[in-house]
Amino acid sequence: MSIPETMGDWKRTHNCGELRKEDEGREVVLMGWVNGVRDLGSLLFIDLRDRYGRTQLVIDEGLNPSLHQKAKGLRSEFVIAVKGAVRQREGGQKNPSLPTGDIEVKVEELRVLNTSMVPPFSVDAVKEASEILRMKYRYLDLRRPEISQRFVFRHNLVRETREYLNALGFLEIETPFLTKSTPEGARDFLVPSRIQPKKFYALPQSPQLFKQILMIGGLDKYYQIVRCFRDEDLRADRQPEFTQIDLEMSFVDEEDIMGVVEGLLSHLFERLLGVRLQTPFLKMTYEEAISQYGTDKPDLRAGAPIKDLTEVFSDIALVFLREGFQRGERLKGLFLDGHLERVSRKALERYESLLRSNGARGLLWVKWKGDTWQSPVGKYLTEGIKGGLKTLFPSPEGLLFMVLDEDEKASKALGLLRLELSKDLGISDPSDHRFLWVTSFPLLEWDDTQNRFVAVHHPFTSPKYEDIPLLESEPQKVRAKAFDIVLNGTEIGGGSIRIHTKELQERVFRTIGISEEEGDSKFGFLLEALRLGAPPHGGLAIGLDRLVAIMLGLESIREVIAFPKTTSGSCPLTDAPSFVPEEQLRELGILLAP
Ligand code: AMO
Repeated sequence: MSIPETMGDWKRTHNCGELRKEDEGREVVLMGWVNGVRDLGSLLFIDLRDRYGRTQLVIDEGLNPSLHQKAKGLRSEFVIAVKGAVRQREGGQKNPSLPTGDIEVKVEELRVLNTSMVPPFSVDAVKEASEILRMKYRYLDLRRPEISQRFVFRHNLVRETREYLNALGFLEIETPFLTKSTPEGARDFLVPSRIQPKKFYALPQSPQLFKQILMIGGLDKYYQIVRCFRDEDLRADRQPEFTQIDLEMSFVDEEDIMGVVEGLLSHLFERLLGVRLQTPFLKMTYEEAISQYGTDKPDLRAGAPIKDLTEVFSDIALVFLREGFQRGERLKGLFLDGHLERVSRKALERYESLLRSNGARGLLWVKWKGDTWQSPVGKYLTEGIKGGLKTLFPSPEGLLFMVLDEDEKASKALGLLRLELSKDLGISDPSDHRFLWVTSFPLLEWDDTQNRFVAVHHPFTSPKYEDIPLLESEPQKVRAKAFDIVLNGTEIGGGSIRIHTKELQERVFRTIGISEEEGDSKFGFLLEALRLGAPPHGGLAIGLDRLVAIMLGLESIREVIAFPKTTSGSCPLTDAPSFVPEEQLRELGILLAP
């Protein structure tokens, strides 16, 4: 066989997922990869694969010995073209699990378009190759239908997003990648300028400032499906470059933005998963989320909220509790309804050490089944306390976990336990989609390392108007017109109403320690634009990778990014980041420190 052969004048008539029994008798040309070869002596079956599916090819030695001989040389991942006739498989040969399982193609001619070495992992294997190997040979990984289907899904999601927002009058506008720093709380990736030595562009952490400028430019409704770059520590739901569905609108308030986002998400879930979402989504303030779930991104599937038990236990004769109450600490409780036999003593010890290693001082528990009570502090449980608990948790049996600490600390510890329990006991249903808006975030938080207040979202977020007078006196009490959208415990998006006057923007800069000079040099263009007729405006960005991963039930966003990076920020396929020739550095005026 002369290899490689060319396609010549052959054109594909069908793809590998297309032929049905109605096509019987049709002359077809198929092209694709050899998924496998079965040699039954005089009969040779070839499983041909492409993005659309698989089709069985058959070659009969008796009918065409030289073709049979040639086909015997085929190996997995060879690229071939075949010409032949479609015929129905015999009764017992049908494969109901394959859409093309009723037919096969009786090959008359075969062209081998390329050969392949033995691949480092089998594309067809059920057993997973390691993630690094899959990333290094991503093209092999992408040949697997379950992987390529994710990118079909992602493509459809992007298409539906565009259709939905276009219909509402949003304009898709591109913003620069070579730009100035736009702070979103991470470090910048810098790009040296060759033409202007010693100067650097920053890759945008988000298009935040440009979309605000577009509103000041009167474009009214903007969106972009856009790559963002952040130099931060990576984990399963974080990549150094990731994609946002980014939007901004003028003359709107928080509710308007939430309405558009709920509409968009409902559209996507209906079109892509056939799931009807209930709108409006639930809303909860940041304070409520922390107090009841110990986190600003509660997973509403993961069981009951956390309750304050301080009142119920106020008269208890246990010294350490009484002392805690006197210090103003709270006793908070997480109730597990049922599941008693599934939480062993060992598990209780494991939960306690988990909480201790996260800064809690301990974990108390009370178990009841009917009138039988069990607890390490059982003898202190008076009838009054038991009655109080049964009123709070009217269940015949259950396990109550309790932590004594400052309010927020106690909630956070139990919030951690809540997720752990949900994981261990399989409480959260992966096919359930629970959306939640978390609103009224604090505008600022104290940063110990920098010894100053920093913006919780970004420094362009508007304070709630009624809290503006507190900006200088009690900055920590100022709430923001900011809101996150949370899905099943993951923050999939965040947005806010923006500051649209220079005075307020400068006040907020001052509060977070950005001096007038620094403000002018970094954000002078924004401050000037705010003085030239900036309308009230606001917007939000959804993390597209996170959304797709959750919709497909996948753990990591690496699974839905065609060429993701490892947790150390490298690309196993191209081996980026890499050293560059000295010549290139010299051109840029860069000298590497020894
Ligand atoms: P924020 O920083 O909250 O807001 O980002 C919006 C959403 O983007 C996703 N996201 C990420 N996804 C993958 N890898 C990362 N490293 C990463 N970082 C963030 C999250 C997040 O909710 N300019 C504002 C939006 C606005 O106010 O309009 C912004 O970027 O899902």
